[in-house]
Amino acid sequence: MKTHTLLMPLDMHLHLRDGIMLENVAPLSAYSLSGALVMPNLVPPVSNVAEVVAYKERIMAAVPNDNFEPYMTLFYKNYDKAFLESVADEITSIKLYPAGITTNSEGGVSSFDIEEMRPTLQTMSDMEIPLCVHGETDGFVMDRETEFMSIYELLATNFPKLKIIMEHITTKAAVDMLDKFDNLYATITVHHLILTLDDVVGGMMQPHLFCKPIAKRPEDLDALLSVALEAHPKVMFGSDSAPHPQHAKESCGCAAGVFTAPIALQLLCEVFDQFGKLENLQDFVSDNAQRIYGICPEFKEVTLEERPFVVPANYSGVVPMYAGETLAWAIESID
Ligand code: NCD
Ligand code: ZN
Repeated sequence: MKTHTLLMPLDMHLHLRDGIMLENVAPLSAYSLSGALVMPNLVPPVSNVAEVVAYKERIMAAVPNDNFEPYMTLFYKNYDKAFLESVADEITSIKLYPAGITTNSEGGVSSFDIEEMRPTLQTMSDMEIPLCVHGETDGFVMDRETEFMSIYELLATNFPKLKIIMEHITTKAAVDMLDKFDNLYATITVHHLILTLDDVVGGMMQPHLFCKPIAKRPEDLDALLSVALEAHPKVMFGSDSAPHPQHAKESCGCAAGVFTAPIALQLLCEVFDQFGKLENLQDFVSDNAQRIYGICPEFKEVTLEERPFVVPANYSGVVPMYAGETLAWAIESID
C-alpha cells in the first residue's frame, strides 16, 4: 500500500466562523493540521485586539487538543501606528477585502487610494506584518482577478518591503506576477487545482463548487498546477475552506464558498500523486509557509495512504466538496 507522510501541515487561508459552526468545523481542521491562518470575516469582522484575543480563545475552546495553532488575522482598515503596535503581537497578518466583494466583506476597502493607505501599509511594512489580499475587482466575474493585477503592482512597487500575499489565486495572470515582484506571494486552494468553470456550471449547476474567486479556464488551471506541483517557493497551500449551512448553498442565491477542510490533505495527495509530484507536497503544504511567515508550528506527523475514502454526505449540516464520492487517498494515522 502506497503511503505518504506530511510533517506539520498548515492551511494558510481558513474560515472557521463562530458559534456552533466554529464548534463543528474547527475540530475537523485541528485534527490533521498543525495550524491555520484564520480569516477575520466574521459579522462584525475581527478588527481590534480584544476581538482577536477573544476569537482565538473561542477557537481553542472548540478544538479537542492544543496541538493546533490558529494564526490570527485582522480585518484591514486604515489603522494608525499606535493601533498596529498594540495588536502586532496577537496577529500573523492583516487581511484586506475590497468592500462587498465576497462574504462579510462590506466593511472592506472601497477605494485603493495609495496615499490614503500609505501610513498603514508603510507601518505594516516597517513592522513586518504581512498583508493578505482578496484580489478581485467588481468587474466581469471572469476578469475580476486579472483586473486586480494593476492594484497588486501598485501595492508591490509602493511598498517593496511589505510581504503581500495574493490569496486563493485562480489565474495565469496571478501566477505570472510571482516572478515579477520579489514581495508578492500566493496561496492556492486544492479545489482550484482541480476545477475549471466547466465543473461548476458547465453541466448541472454545482452549488458546492461555487466560490469566490470562481474557478477559471483550463489554461489558468494549468498555470496554477505548474507552480503548486513544483512547490514554487512563493506559493503555499491555503484551502479557503468556507463552510455555509446546506440550506444557504442549496438555495436560490447560493452562498459562495467550498467546504474542503475535512478532505483537503487527502485531495492534495491525490492531485500531487496523479502528476508524480508527491515529493513536493511537503513544501507546498508546510515548509514554504513556515519560511514565508516565519512560523514554527507544533509538531504533527500525518500519514496518508492510497485507499478508497468515501466522503461523508455532510458534516453537521455542512456539505463538503465531493460529498458521497470516493477519493483515492485516506488519512491513515496522526502522531
Ligand atoms: C469565503 C467565505 O464564505 O467566507 N467565500 C468564498 O467563496 N471563498 C470568503 C472568501 O474568501 O472570499
Ligand atoms: Zn477565504
